[in-house]
Parts: sequence; structure tokens; C-alpha cells
Amino acid sequence: MKPSYRLAPSLLSANFAKLGEEVANVIASGADWIHFDVMDNHYVPNLTIGPLVCEAIRPLTQASIDVHLMVKPVDHIIPDFAKAGANLITFHPEASEHIDRTLSLIRESGCQAGLVFNPATPLDYMDHVMEKLDMVVLMSVNPGFGGQKFIPETLNKLRLARAKIDAYTALSGRQILLEVDGGVNKDNIAGIARAGADTFVAGSAVFGAGKGSDLHRYDSIIAALRAALAST
Ligand code: DX5
Ligand code: ZN
Repeated sequence: MKPSYRLAPSLLSANFAKLGEEVANVIASGADWIHFDVMDNHYVPNLTIGPLVCEAIRPLTQASIDVHLMVKPVDHIIPDFAKAGANLITFHPEASEHIDRTLSLIRESGCQAGLVFNPATPLDYMDHVMEKLDMVVLMSVNPGFGGQKFIPETLNKLRLARAKIDAYTALSGRQILLEVDGGVNKDNIAGIARAGADTFVAGSAVFGAGKGSDLHRYDSIIAALRAALAST
């Protein structure tokens, strides 16, 4: 059976002067989720957006807001994002003193929880917390900036993550999503899906495609990404 796929455009590459319009347009163009990159100029060398912006875009869409925390420490900001309307919250294991506790905190706040693995971070961090995971995210670039090139080794790591998740699902009957984040585009998305991903973040590939047009519609790039996925 073919898995169902989710497309999650990253706001990092959107026009921040028109953020509300961008959110509405990208969902109207057929995207499934909004990927919301939070950077603190400490865990990663860039500074982006926080709970106030999440709260501001929340009324504009029914789509899930997928909050990717690249902040350290991570715990105190979690309830703020839950109150601001986040649906999923993911964080990097290196940014938490107690990974199991941080995962619980996200669930207790009413959100789905996920761990994000940097390119060089081993997958072992997921092994003893599978029960507390709703999503696993593999970074296919080093976090901090949009528009970087997909790191091909991620495909091997995706196959390993897929095997771990499938083994867990076979035992427990519970699904865990496998998201890939960084450098995804219409030319590589099919290969990424074949390696095991079911959820795809794309920032520059989506929002870059709408630049130059007054309408800022993303129908054709979303359709191209879906067509590539349908070919798998
Ligand atoms: C990187 C972010 C990603 C990234 C996606 O730190 O987590 O979400 O910006 O952007 P593209 O698709 O341009 O790599
Ligand atoms: Zn991200």
C-alpha cells in the first residue's frame, strides 16, 4: 500500500512582509501543513520567529502548524507555542537536558511530539522513547538556513529510520511520521520518499517558485511535488 504523504512548506523562505497572505496562499495552493522554523541565534546561528508570530497566523488556517524548535534550552518555550496554536512541536536532542521529559512536556501541553536529528546525530536517541514520539525528523541540511543543498547521506539514514519505525509499528500498531527537512525539491522528492520519508518540508523550493508573480500562488510547484510523489 502506498503511504500517504504530507507537504509542509517552511515559512523561512516566505515573504515576511506578507506572512499572513503567504500562509493562506500556500495552503490554498494545496499544501498540507505549515512548517514553522524557530531559531535562537544560540543553538543555531540565525534568529527567526517565536510564539507571537505563531499566534498571529493561527486564525488564518485550519492546517497543522509544525513547529521546529532550534533553540536551547527548549523546555520553557514549549507551553508558549502550545498556547499559540502549534499542533506539532519538534526539538533537537542536543538542545534538551532530559529528552524523555521534554517529549512528555509537549504531549502534556496538548501537542504531538517529535525529535529532530541533525545530519551527524545518531538515530539511537529515538530507541528508548518510541512510545512518546509522533514524528521523527531527519535534517538533510545543517540547521540554521534555508536554501541549502540536500545532503545525500540522508537517504541511507532515512532507510535506517524507516526500519526502526516499521519495527515499532509492527509491535505496537502505532504510527510515527518520518519527516525530512532541508533541500527538498521536485527533482529529489521521489527518491527521498522511496528511502522512507512520508512528510516533506520544502522552503525555498516552494516559496522561491512563487517569487515574481503578483498572485503568490503556489499551485504549480505543489502539483509538481505531488506528481513526483505519485511516481514513486
Ligand atoms: C533549516 C530549516 C528548514 C529549511 C527548509 O534549518 O529547519 O526548515 O529552512 O528550507 P529549504 O527547503 O530551503 O532547505
Ligand atoms: Zn525546519
